[in-house]
Amino acid sequence: MLLKKCLLAFVLTLSVTTIFAQTKTAVQSPDKNLLMNFWLDNDGRPMYELLYKNKTVILPSAMGFGLKQTMSNEALPSLQKNMQLTASSQSASDTKWNPVWGDVKEIRDQHNQLIVSLTQKGEKAIQFNIIFKVFNDGLGFRYVFPQQKELNHFIVSAEKTEFHLAGDHKAFWIPGDYDSNEFSPNVSKLSEVDGEDPKYAASIFAHQFFNKNAVQTPLMLKSDDGLYINIHEAALVNYPAMNLVIDKADFTLTSALVPDALGNMAYLQAPAKTPWRTIIVSDKATDILASHTILNLNDPSVIKDPSWIKPTKYIGVWWEMHVGKASWDSASGKHGATTANVKRYIDFAAKHKFDGVLVEGWNVGWEDWFGQYKENVFDFVTPYGDFDVKGLHKYAASKNVKLIMHHETSASVTNYERQMDTAYRFMKANGYDAVKTGYVGHIIPRGEHHDGQWMVNHYLRVAKKTADYKIMLDAHEPVRPTGLSRTYPNWLACEAARGMEFNAWSEGNKPRHDVILPFTRFMGGPMDYTPGIFQLELNYWDKNKKETIHTTLAKQLALYVTICSPLQMAADLPEIYEKKLDAFQFIKDVAVDWDDSKYLEAEPGEYITVARKAKKSNNWFVGSITNEQARTTTVDLDFLDAGKKYQAIIYADAPDADFEKNPAAYVISKQTVNSKTVLNLKLAPGGGTAISIMPIK
Ligand code: NOJ
Ligand code: CA
Repeated sequence: MLLKKCLLAFVLTLSVTTIFAQTKTAVQSPDKNLLMNFWLDNDGRPMYELLYKNKTVILPSAMGFGLKQTMSNEALPSLQKNMQLTASSQSASDTKWNPVWGDVKEIRDQHNQLIVSLTQKGEKAIQFNIIFKVFNDGLGFRYVFPQQKELNHFIVSAEKTEFHLAGDHKAFWIPGDYDSNEFSPNVSKLSEVDGEDPKYAASIFAHQFFNKNAVQTPLMLKSDDGLYINIHEAALVNYPAMNLVIDKADFTLTSALVPDALGNMAYLQAPAKTPWRTIIVSDKATDILASHTILNLNDPSVIKDPSWIKPTKYIGVWWEMHVGKASWDSASGKHGATTANVKRYIDFAAKHKFDGVLVEGWNVGWEDWFGQYKENVFDFVTPYGDFDVKGLHKYAASKNVKLIMHHETSASVTNYERQMDTAYRFMKANGYDAVKTGYVGHIIPRGEHHDGQWMVNHYLRVAKKTADYKIMLDAHEPVRPTGLSRTYPNWLACEAARGMEFNAWSEGNKPRHDVILPFTRFMGGPMDYTPGIFQLELNYWDKNKKETIHTTLAKQLALYVTICSPLQMAADLPEIYEKKLDAFQFIKDVAVDWDDSKYLEAEPGEYITVARKAKKSNNWFVGSITNEQARTTTVDLDFLDAGKKYQAIIYADAPDADFEKNPAAYVISKQTVNSKTVLNLKLAPGGGTAISIMPIK
């Protein structure tokens, strides 16, 4: 309705008869900064290019597919030649919508659209359309296969979308892979990308070296002439995820889809559509962080009454397993998910007003679950004997705390599919409104990949079914998100990247990790990153460990603001927080849902400073973080209401703080501020500053 009302009333149909077109059809962004041209080259191959303020973002790049017939596997005529343009139409649209949760309360969707219809002559010719939407901060395009005259189901053997970049840009990348995105991000020129670097072999997931020149999206790039370019996809539904293969001779990136067990990429039944390919671009890095283009390309929410969806701050029986204090399985003698221990967490959550308590290791099967390619490990309804489901339900309810369910599928997904209804009914009967799923291991059905079409459909089935049961969802080890939380806002967060857990049992995450993720992984949606670690020296838990977590304590606090997620964990243990309640106060105060966000300054891999206004509140929170370099910066509080007084509590690195030598040193200061105040911040190496700013009554 809204869309119809606001759709500006010009829809211009250029032609409905066949045009043999080499002429370019141009579409500009509403502010005219972006220009996209579409044309067919001399061979009848669809082509596009993109410019931003007259600088080239994408040089002439080809589009199209290789298709095969189902059953016979016979190749269909290439959609990269002999195409003819049969129709083309342009329109403009300017609407607003309100997300159920997010970084702002209202999102503007303003774009100009071009739809081209392409067809071929001859038998078994396939017709397809390309829809382009040009926003002020980027381009999205998708392929649409309408109902065909003859052949309505076919196999995508390859998608051949190109992104021909204008130079050897600086890239923030992780290696192309079919199953995992839990890699440390690299920073290098495109020409220096090497996915065969031995460090990936050490990954706990089987890394598929399918092409050493392949990278995953969201891919963040910076050109020598100062353009920030982000390539990803939106609305990944019934289609595999896209890796990008770099041609190092001319910097053309070509889509490489994740195959299925037979080596096919996707099965399409027309009418069908691909996800959107997105190119977000600006000369300001902060614009990339502020972009809502990927959300705008997703469909509106299908959940008519979202009142049951609650942004959630939680603690959990979790980090104590990762640092080795406790175990998931009960036979070890140090079982974490005991009734008594869970009650301790519930008490702590109630005392400090957390919404939820996650409990892992509550159900039988953990003795032998990992890396086995084993079917039917977990059943999701059978607790260990020392975990009293009914008793804990009552106890949590009496303290107004929600327990959060854990479903580790061990990647035995056929098993999970069979059990989902039973598992969700069990959850509802026992007071659980949120589930964390997990997909550690090799996917069953065997040969399928975490990021292939079959699994993409699985994650969505889970999002839909949990919505039917009014359950909120947090998926670990899924495909990287593509903005689908707009359509299914019960899907609060995903992991789909290297989270805090790696600091507990690997060489850890580098200080630059947290200033890269917002430009890469977070472009598709929120992450359950699990910040808030206060015990930063790991030898506290294990004498043999020399590592520290590669941030200062103040940076752990600032992450609650630089990471935008409606699901945030305070990941450390109650007894650790009890020792530093002054710093813990920030985690208690900080919001997880926002009316507004100001991206004050940012440079990928270097620093980020963000201010956010809590939902339905006048409280502001600021987070500023750096990589391994110390930094000074200023924060102008001109976003505050003029004439109002606020109290700022500043959680800063102590003068001698350092992520390696002295990570836990912090200082807390208080100051009365107003919209004219400018704060000077000093960030330690690997450090940060967190600030709460609340009106003085
Ligand atoms: C990996 C998940 O990311 C982590 O959060 C969880 O504790 C383990 N799998 C066990 O399911
Ligand atoms: Ca994980």
